[in-house]
Amino acid sequence: MMILERRDFMNVKQIEQQLEQSNFKREASDFKSLVKIYQLCHSGANEIGTKLENLDEEYSMTYDHNPIHHMEERMKSTSSLFEKLERKGYKPTIENVQKHIRDIAGIRVVTNYIDDIYRVEKALTEQSDVTLLKRKDYIENPKKSGYRSLHLVVSVPVFQSVGVSDVPVEIQIRTIGMDMWASLEHKLRYKTNADPKKVKQHSANLKAYAKELNDIETRMQAIFSDLQDH
Ligand code: GTP
Ligand code: MG
Repeated sequence: MMILERRDFMNVKQIEQQLEQSNFKREASDFKSLVKIYQLCHSGANEIGTKLENLDEEYSMTYDHNPIHHMEERMKSTSSLFEKLERKGYKPTIENVQKHIRDIAGIRVVTNYIDDIYRVEKALTEQSDVTLLKRKDYIENPKKSGYRSLHLVVSVPVFQSVGVSDVPVEIQIRTIGMDMWASLEHKLRYKTNADPKKVKQHSANLKAYAKELNDIETRMQAIFSDLQDH
């Protein structure tokens, strides 16, 4: 059985507290708009999460195989939201959040095999109410670090009492091996107090391991595909 881990949705109080600690000291109406954006994005993530759960269940019934191992859903913290605006050179306004930020809601989909990544992508983006806004294939073209994953930004309509809006959701799709690698590499990347020489060595090793992991997952994929065919 596949599990979707839904992190606690940040409530208004939490967003308010985060905003107080940030530089976003603006009108009360701006604050309310930001809370509304978060709420809308959270609904968007729920819509996509449900679609993915349904696809996994259907696939498992039809082919006796679960493409999805598990999923995680996260909302961007307000501090990383403002950091990102600043990094991109935009002022922290509601307009800029709406125009330039498409990853307030994020879902990470961890698949069992490499083929499952593209299977999930195809089945999701073919749906008539899902629009692909951005696609980066870091499996075809791994990052310099060795990082591999398929990154998508899609939009999905969210129906509210006040009407319907198209909401962006960021989706990272990767195998168990790629996910394991990314967690460890992330840990290394944010260990600021570590010995730089050691970090350099670990980074070099990790880059090589990313390739090795990919080779192993490709070969395991071949065994699995062979077994599925017979
Ligand atoms: P943003 O606008 O900042 O999102 O830039 P971008 O769209 O170019 O971002 P990118 O496609 O690089 O994806 C950003 C996310 O991917 C990060 O938040 C990480 O979760 C993940 N990621 C990207 N590169 C790496 C990497 O080298 N190591 C790890 N561990 N994660 C990475
Ligand atoms: Mg991003």
